[in-house]
Amino acid sequence: MVTTQPIGIFDSGYGGLTVMKEIVKKLPRYDYIYLGDNARAPYGNRSFDTVYRYTLQCVEWFFQQGCPLVILACNTASAKALRTIQQNDLPHIAPDNRVLGVIRPTTEIIGSFTSSRKIGILATNGTVQSGSYLIEIEKFFPDIKVYQEACPMWVPIVENNEHDQPGADYFVKKHVQHIMSADKDIDTLLLACTHYPLLRDKILQFLPAGVNVVSQGEIVANSLEDYLQRHTDLETRCSKNGHRVFYTTDSTEDFDNHASIFFGEPVRSNHVDLDSNIPVADDNY
Ligand code: DGL
Repeated sequence: MVTTQPIGIFDSGYGGLTVMKEIVKKLPRYDYIYLGDNARAPYGNRSFDTVYRYTLQCVEWFFQQGCPLVILACNTASAKALRTIQQNDLPHIAPDNRVLGVIRPTTEIIGSFTSSRKIGILATNGTVQSGSYLIEIEKFFPDIKVYQEACPMWVPIVENNEHDQPGADYFVKKHVQHIMSADKDIDTLLLACTHYPLLRDKILQFLPAGVNVVSQGEIVANSLEDYLQRHTDLETRCSKNGHRVFYTTDSTEDFDNHASIFFGEPVRSNHVDLDSNIPVADDNY
């Protein structure tokens, strides 16, 4: 029997842990359950339909665990699946629950980082092709010129723990230099993939001084705090025992070895097989 109502945090793999880290720092009282769909990651090069199906399956799993609120801490899932889930699925499967993404909170505030009004978006192929950042930034800041760069190798580099190795330099340099060559006045680069904060030091090496490199963790945490204050019905449904539970669809050993790099503290995960739909056990809390 489910006895708590944790906030669900989802990513295709480890990247969402960079967001969860900031959320937990900002809002430590709540219970959280993290799911990394590592067995099917990366999502970045997958079709709309596949990302939507995988993400919906994970959202349904979170609801079975008692989560009233799920954060898609994955830009690719936010870009390709969130709207359909919110508009088509939620009204049928759980009308009182909510699913939020990371693109909207980021685009609402991105204007405060740039003076030149020229920014670069670094993201997966899927996020770039969806055009979500272009559409959303245009709504809030029509004066900002946005350049996009797909960096398809960056998630595999990070997922394989090669982010601080010399081999990563080639791919980081290639994309950073390419987007900066599009316009010398770009003064802000958004890391629009939750895996990319681990590449931050390398990105800075190949950038001219003075360019802002913006990660989403803190932005999403601030936005969630504000959302919970404005939605008291939902907020009161979220349990508050300070528990964090981690799930992966792949090997727990691999997850635990990698996850602490993203989360900043040791992680002990549980395995979930989404196809056999194993429910969460009480004693995990
Ligand atoms: N962390 C995901 C994102 O923010 C990575 C996507 C992937 O699995 O390729 O887009």
